[in-house]
Amino acid sequence: MDHATVVVSGTKIADEIGTGRSEVWRLIQQLRSLGVDVAGHPATGYQLRAVPDLLLADVLAPLIKGTIFQHIHHYYKVGSTNSAAMEAAASGAPEGSVFLAEEQTAGRGRGANAWHSARSAGIYCSVVLRPNLPPSEALILSLAAGLAVHAAIQEIDARINPDLKWPNDLLVGGKKFCGILTEMNAEATRVRFAVVGIGINVNDPRFPEDLRDVATSLQLASGSEWSRVELAAALLKSLHREYRHLLIKPNARESILHRFAEHSSYVCGCKVRIEENGGFEAVTEGLDARGFLQVRTPQGLRTVLSGTVRAM
Ligand code: BTN
Repeated sequence: MDHATVVVSGTKIADEIGTGRSEVWRLIQQLRSLGVDVAGHPATGYQLRAVPDLLLADVLAPLIKGTIFQHIHHYYKVGSTNSAAMEAAASGAPEGSVFLAEEQTAGRGRGANAWHSARSAGIYCSVVLRPNLPPSEALILSLAAGLAVHAAIQEIDARINPDLKWPNDLLVGGKKFCGILTEMNAEATRVRFAVVGIGINVNDPRFPEDLRDVATSLQLASGSEWSRVELAAALLKSLHREYRHLLIKPNARESILHRFAEHSSYVCGCKVRIEENGGFEAVTEGLDARGFLQVRTPQGLRTVLSGTVRAM
């Protein structure tokens, strides 16, 4: 990536990649259609106007050295990075494999929800983990991922202090900018592998009509553009830290639960409606030892195992 913005002739590029100048022209047009800002034409040579903020493996790898995330797969366009990661993991992809996309055409959220995945505006990232956990304890991975996103954002702009909404959303100014979808392949007593998928709205300047009232991006919240590369690197480093601690530190689980509650206005004393079993109203009373939400109802204390939680 050094000297990335110098002018290079079409002939030189053609020689280096072993093709002809017309093929180079075709490839340049393809890059432009993917949003890469390339100036010039065959007669004058080509020049990157700016190093694009693309989540390329070659760009990210040096920034996340020493983490478990050593196998990075980058797509310009993919259906869903979670689906790509689940398939790869089932075929033996190692722990720490990362799947990143500039654009998802079938980004998935929890339940039947879709995840809006505009091209090069957000971070769409899925990682393969192979923790030694029973499936009943896998929720802690989602909570740890939420904390990792929180830490990465604070590292880059301490003015943005996201609110963690149990179990897997991050909000700023009451609107969601990040969602986490953890999926797994498990036996009854053992997780074979888990895929933690993280979607962050980073530089979306606006949202479709149906999302406008509920969704935001870091750019909209902070008033300035973010480097997706810098944020993705910070995220993978903090995810690495959380995950290592979870595997090796005896009190990591308690620490995750404690810190999640600390950064969440939802976990304690919040009047909510739980869209589960027909829906009911309750007041939140903290997390249990596995990370499930406890709520107080007129009938007593209940544990929320799934379902959407809405503040009232
Ligand atoms: C939610 O809020 O319901 C979870 C959204 C998770 C979206 C991310 S984007 C990267 C990964 N790939 C997907 O298809 N989904 C997750």
